[in-house]
Amino acid sequence: GTTLKAAAERSGRYFGAAMGRDRLNDQGFLTIANREFDMMTAVNEMKPDATEPSRGQFSFAAGDAIYNWAVQHGMRLRGHTLAWHAQQPRFWSSLSGSALRQAMIDHINGVMAHYKGKLAYWDVVNEAFAENGSRRNSNLQATGNDWIEAAFRAARAADPSVKLCYNDYNIENWTYAKTQGVYNMIRDFKSRGVPIDCVGLQTHFTGGSSLPGNFQTTLSSFAALGVDVALTEADVTNASASQYQGLTQACMNVPRCVGITTWGIRDSDSWRGSENPLLFDRNSNPKAAYSAVLNALNAA
Ligand code: G3I
Repeated sequence: GTTLKAAAERSGRYFGAAMGRDRLNDQGFLTIANREFDMMTAVNEMKPDATEPSRGQFSFAAGDAIYNWAVQHGMRLRGHTLAWHAQQPRFWSSLSGSALRQAMIDHINGVMAHYKGKLAYWDVVNEAFAENGSRRNSNLQATGNDWIEAAFRAARAADPSVKLCYNDYNIENWTYAKTQGVYNMIRDFKSRGVPIDCVGLQTHFTGGSSLPGNFQTTLSSFAALGVDVALTEADVTNASASQYQGLTQACMNVPRCVGITTWGIRDSDSWRGSENPLLFDRNSNPKAAYSAVLNALNAA
């Protein structure tokens, strides 16, 4: 394949990017997106604060704008995200206990009803673990330790057609406590029949000493539990070509690694912009890391 998506599709995978609604007016971005990518994630527009700014008042215009553009250009979409400690609707901050739990369930039902049958994946729960491997303290965690499984059960009932993912960062290193904490939760969910289909590893890399072996062990270990895995928000300090090669190789070596998404396209799109962490530079030119990824995708 001569593009990221064509190379990924050779092995039945996708290659994705994240975009904000503002990029719909950015021809440079759209040209590369349309040429190279076949999966899209909204950077902020499908998050709880965006989709339900006040109770029961849903707002889908921004998310729909991204959805419509992506579908018109032959892409699938990852929904991001339904329940998270950050970017919550303001009204959630005045709720707690069973009232907050119900607001979360109502939110999942309202958003998933709107996108029913339209998305490939949903990040049902995002970033619920602390670095030490225990649950992160949050208002949602305070509603009871079963809040995550309650979210997944509601999500499955709301739209049985979409794959339901748990998504987090710093879970790439197999020997890291947070990785083990998430792994143990997924294992528990699978053993008890809690509906979950996939784990998203955000893959915001600052160093890559464990690539590809240790990372591949993480991916294959999750996959062995019976879930798909995906690299959902990849970016790498200074776009190290060897690190991009390594993370791509790790995914390619794991049959249940279904695809890779980068968090933006050009360095100017990135939340880590000063680190120039993406595959395209500010002039829309592919960087060395682009060739490294393309070659690793084509090697399969
Ligand atoms: O929209 C307002 C704008 O009106 C205002 O003028 C401006 C001033 O600061 O802020 C704008 O909102 C910002 C928004 O991005 C849109 O650009 C928020 O302040 C800013 O906090 C928000 O950051 C987003 C961040 O999530 C928030 O947690 C990033 O764009 C987004 O890339 C980032 O994405 C997260 C994933 O969801 C989860 N994993 C980590 C990843 C990177 O942090």
